[in-house]
Amino acid sequence: MSALPAIYPRERIPKNAVLTAGMFRTPSDPVPASFLDVGCSKFVSSGSMAIRLCLTHAAIGAGDTVLLPAYHCISMVEPVVWRGATPRFYRIHDDTSIDLADVRSKLDRSARALIVPHYFGFAQDAGRIREFCDRHGLIYVEDCAHAFFGSHADRPLGAFGDYAIASPWKFFPTFDGGLLASSRIDLDDARLAGPGAYYHCKAALNALEYAFDYGRLGALKIALSLPLRAKSYLWRNVKTVDPEVPSPNTQSPDSAGEQCSRWHAQAMSWPSRLTIALAATASIAARRRRNYQKLEAALRGSSGCRALFSGLPDAVVPQVFPLLVDDPDRVFPQLKHAGVPIIRFGEFLWPGVDERTCPQTMDLSRRVLQFPCHQDLRPEELDWMIATIHHVVEHR
Ligand SMILES: Cc1ncc(COP(=O)(O)O)c(C=O)c1O
Repeated sequence: MSALPAIYPRERIPKNAVLTAGMFRTPSDPVPASFLDVGCSKFVSSGSMAIRLCLTHAAIGAGDTVLLPAYHCISMVEPVVWRGATPRFYRIHDDTSIDLADVRSKLDRSARALIVPHYFGFAQDAGRIREFCDRHGLIYVEDCAHAFFGSHADRPLGAFGDYAIASPWKFFPTFDGGLLASSRIDLDDARLAGPGAYYHCKAALNALEYAFDYGRLGALKIALSLPLRAKSYLWRNVKTVDPEVPSPNTQSPDSAGEQCSRWHAQAMSWPSRLTIALAATASIAARRRRNYQKLEAALRGSSGCRALFSGLPDAVVPQVFPLLVDDPDRVFPQLKHAGVPIIRFGEFLWPGVDERTCPQTMDLSRRVLQFPCHQDLRPEELDWMIATIHHVVEHR
């Protein structure tokens, strides 16, 4: 008999960025290097959709192989399979850097593209990967889903690949969002389907509802209580009429899959585009770094865990704080029961990926827990999370 999935209480603090009144940029604010500097870009509904659009644009399909890291999430692999191509998995090292010797051993005539993520915002040696792809005739897909900001060798992340993808909802308070960009290839002919008006409305109202749920924008909550109820009613009916209408909440691989069942390469909602265009990006980058550093300093020296990466290089704007835990089978459920938000990249791997494919991945997939360090954590929320992690990790 299979075990029932565990039921955990609602997360006590927001896992993702939250709309706030102070999130907008003023004309004098500096603008840090970001994915928006890469070049020609297309705004789509999710990172997964961006990978799909990239593969379509590069005419990758049946008979082709796409090289993916063994340490992945399912939504990176699905677009490859949707295109009819074959995913093949390569090894990474303990520090999440790509094992190029293993990639080389996996090359054959069918290998067309290499997808490499900058895990958690920490840059891979993108220059070396660029050279490798040039030497072997591979299309380099630079996966910046965790790295909307940041640079490598003084160039924005995303500028090294033939194509680059991003997942801005991991950095901005939006409920959808993906980007395909290229500094080398003209994407003007990449076609997108525009979503209906209800999708735009729901994307806006969902972002507001998430903020209200976590005690932000209180006055607006009262003013909008009627439209929010109308939205829930309408959405229920739209879904009844057409169950394939895509949900704007792309925060699970399942919903990304739902979007692709019929709605190929769907465009990003307007509220999300606007949020990204108007956000105070310098403050987002600075706060994420500050929160990360606070987590790292507070947990340094704790027994039973350590930060996955030592230090925070100047050019990194972290997506999350990845913590390597000795005893995840005890720590994870205890933290979840306490209401701590945890992201577990690579918790579920594509069937067939195992110890033989990449032992390092199996270890990371089990032991790395990621905690939010986003810009909208209040100081007391961060302090509570740190104290709870401390308590659970140290009290065996
Ligand atoms: C490295 C990486 N690439 C791509 C994706 C797909 O992005 P999205 O969730 O926006 O579809 C994810 C999702 O978590 C990811 O972690």
